[in-house]
Amino acid sequence: MDIINIIEKKKFSQKLNREEIEFFVDGICSGSIADYQTAALLMAIRLNGMDNDEIFFLTDAMKNSGQILTFDSIKGTKIDKHSTGGVGDSTTFVITPIVAVLGFKVAKLSGRGLGFTGGTLDKLEAIEGMNVALSQERFEKQVSDIGIAVSGQSANICPADKILYALRDVTATVDCIPLIASSIMSKKLAVATDILVLDVKVGDGSLLNDYEQTKKLAQIMVDMGKQAGKKVAAVLTSMDEPLDEYIGNSLEVEGAIRVLKGERNNLYKVSKAIVKEILLLSGEFDEENAEKAIDDAIDSGKAYRKFEEFILAQGGKSLILPKAKMYEHPILSKCEGYVSKIHTRDIGSLNMHMGGGRMFKDDKIDYTVGMKILKRVGDYVKKGETLCYAYVNNDEQLAKAETVVDLFEFSDLPQDKTKLIYEIVH
Ligand code: URA
Repeated sequence: MDIINIIEKKKFSQKLNREEIEFFVDGICSGSIADYQTAALLMAIRLNGMDNDEIFFLTDAMKNSGQILTFDSIKGTKIDKHSTGGVGDSTTFVITPIVAVLGFKVAKLSGRGLGFTGGTLDKLEAIEGMNVALSQERFEKQVSDIGIAVSGQSANICPADKILYALRDVTATVDCIPLIASSIMSKKLAVATDILVLDVKVGDGSLLNDYEQTKKLAQIMVDMGKQAGKKVAAVLTSMDEPLDEYIGNSLEVEGAIRVLKGERNNLYKVSKAIVKEILLLSGEFDEENAEKAIDDAIDSGKAYRKFEEFILAQGGKSLILPKAKMYEHPILSKCEGYVSKIHTRDIGSLNMHMGGGRMFKDDKIDYTVGMKILKRVGDYVKKGETLCYAYVNNDEQLAKAETVVDLFEFSDLPQDKTKLIYEIVH
């Protein structure tokens, strides 16, 4: 077997078998396959696709490229949730304490932001003292003791994905269903959780803008999860607007805290839909008592206190977050009309360019910068009215933040509000 034949086969849209896919994954990990050959195969997969068997073989081989975490020491039902990534998407901080309050064990391995999307670990690191690199032992003990731990993934889990993702990022092969499904599910199947709910984003600020393609991705991932013995569902949610009003690392934690303290906004609605699926999949709740249990966890203050417990357990000093020097600097609309579109992906990129994200993996982040989006699709805005607040530390960041006005489109005609939750895929 050799890699050139494998690339040739995919070039002509032929199906790869398990042995060929394993040969490819072994080769990228051992270094016997060169990056340019991997890049060629990735592009052939991007152009000609893979069927469900091939996606399954690729996922399995990637999963087996590293360590499998069995979580033997954690008793109880182990929960995982995963978002395909978006802007103002801080559901993890709302979902995990609620689920822990309701008696489940949340064992969550998270990632960093790259490009226009934020990352859970970066947001957590906005909190002074926070440790997001827990040893396996400490991670499992914390999940057992308080019901939540969120940590970065060790280099030993799915090393094949790290190699492939880095190459996809620079070869325009990220937006590819087989590659996204195998990348996400290899990591999810490498950890022995019982229930997994996927938040699959669709729209301008998501990986795949097309609805049917996104639904297909969700179905493939759900099927693979079930085949591996997990209880799985996917919630298809909109990324045609930033999810929370707040965008930025420290600000998004602040936004999540507001929801844990009772604010009922879009972040609350999507988080609730995801927790509800987790509860229904557990078999311990029905439609009605699931919703009530979620609101009780928030309204009783227990979810907020659990979040605080989790932050303190992981080294965080307090929930008083660092703030930018220019805090809530108003940015005024230059136009008048109904907001008809918000360029969500570009807003995520703008936050990155302001210093809130990284273009290259070793870039340093300014945790305090960001924006608060005050107007949503369908809102009427007058010229000179405040469209957003900027949170910045210098004039250069402010000048960048002010360009956010160009990322809103207006119409003279009333516009429908964006639908937030589309459907659940089982
Ligand atoms: N998230 C991942 O982990 N992998 C992808 O390919 C896309 C999003």
